[in-house]
Amino acid sequence: MKKKLVVLSGAGISQESGLKTFRDMGGLWEQYDVTQVASSEAWEKNPELVNRFYNERRKQLFESIPNAGHFGITELEQWFDTTIITQNVDDLHEIAGSKNVLHLHGELRKVRSTANPKLIYTMKDWELKLGDKCELGSQLRPHIVWFGEAVPAMQEAIPIAQEADIFVVIGTSLAVYPAAGLVNYTSPGIPIFVVDPNAPDVYRKNVTFIQKKAGEGVKELKTELKKLI
Ligand code: APR
Repeated sequence: MKKKLVVLSGAGISQESGLKTFRDMGGLWEQYDVTQVASSEAWEKNPELVNRFYNERRKQLFESIPNAGHFGITELEQWFDTTIITQNVDDLHEIAGSKNVLHLHGELRKVRSTANPKLIYTMKDWELKLGDKCELGSQLRPHIVWFGEAVPAMQEAIPIAQEADIFVVIGTSLAVYPAAGLVNYTSPGIPIFVVDPNAPDVYRKNVTFIQKKAGEGVKELKTELKKLI
């Protein structure tokens, strides 16, 4: 029986694919006021700006490919029963071949009905236009969890974290809850690995910091994890 490996990823794992992080130097929240582009109030007040923000990021996503960090995590699936819980809205984990990916904050390649959130559509192209409607005739919106909205996927994510035999945190500042709280649901004492050039605060025992970028850091992570098969 393979050990359960859970990977909590954030924007940092996609940084080497050319996608901006949020809180690093030059990150998205340095360029945009998050309340203007990533909240339901912003969407009500200025849908053009919000839609442009997500179109720009979706266009970039359509032009980006996974990096060694994504592919390295996919390789771990041969030795571990691996689940990725990601805060990222890109699908680079899936494109790299990862099978079990749970998105906490939504998916950039998808849009949904503003009349019925269960009506979700995958976009063929990067551009969503105001006026693009769902089958019920209501405006489509990005399938993203905006600030102030609930994170329904946490219901599924918490038991996954609780059952982890090994927990990896990669490319996240652990600044945003409830996602950041997942590490605290892990069983006391299980091995925790953090891959990040800056060390986010992880108040748990048995934590190994690999203070490198994902591309390099995942190579070292694989070496360490192979000792735990
Ligand atoms: N490899 C690994 N880690 C990296 C790299 C890299 N190449 N580059 C940056 N990092 C690290 C940074 O040191 C930082 O700890 O990635 C982390 C990025 O942190 P944030 O920009 O805060 O991104 P994230 O933690 O994913 O943000 C969480 O905040 O705005 C919301 O919904 C948004 O999902 C996002 C959430």
